[in-house]
Amino acid sequence: MNVHIAPSILSADFAKLGEEVRAVAEHGADAIHIDVMDGHFVPNLTFGAPIVAALRRVTTLPLDVHLMIEQPERYLEQFVEAGADMLTVHVETCPHLHRTVQAIHALGVRAGVALNPHTPFELIREVLPDVERVLIMTVNPGFGGQRLIPRTLGKVAQIRAAIAALDQPIELGVDGGVDRETIADLARSGADVFVAGSAIFGAAEGIAEAMAALRAAARRGHQAG
Ligand code: DX5
Ligand code: ZN
Repeated sequence: MNVHIAPSILSADFAKLGEEVRAVAEHGADAIHIDVMDGHFVPNLTFGAPIVAALRRVTTLPLDVHLMIEQPERYLEQFVEAGADMLTVHVETCPHLHRTVQAIHALGVRAGVALNPHTPFELIREVLPDVERVLIMTVNPGFGGQRLIPRTLGKVAQIRAAIAALDQPIELGVDGGVDRETIADLARSGADVFVAGSAIFGAAEGIAEAMAALRAAARRGHQAG
């Protein structure tokens, strides 16, 4: 299994965002994870399409946009126009999830579906064959730097088994509280995409060492899984 590491810019220094993105790109980031929050679906506000457009100008890495917003279908087109390569929407915000996934694909980008910690796999089972990624929230979304909720690991294993049964190359991501301590267990449970904010941008040892340590621990987890 691949180890795909997507640094979340939520924990970056916004005053020097371009430099921060270049630094993680240089040290092997597989994508840049951009957390869009609307102050309604989640209790925090972050940024919109103009930041995606600005980052598009400083990196060739895939821009992985995580939409923690109500009625995400209203904004899909503007994020794609700004340069997003993948749009992930929350099942909790999409009463017509299949339609929203189709709309994302019609715009020519990859589609992901995210689940909050309390949301059961059953709610996305029917749409699983239609998405490129499932993103399991391992914290309640809204803020960086929270501790992982251990019970979410069971859902990682459950969805990995469902993906294996489908025999499709669907990515299984985890987002929230991913750090040197938790990443091996997440990998062992079946995750292959790791979103990490504070463990990378807030690392005392620096970005290079933090990313290398995360990748090594995730590989160990995959070997043990
Ligand atoms: C949480 C966001 C995450 C966040 C993760 O609401 O979706 O992407 O940045 O931050 P850490 O890695 O610090 O838990
Ligand atoms: Zn995120």
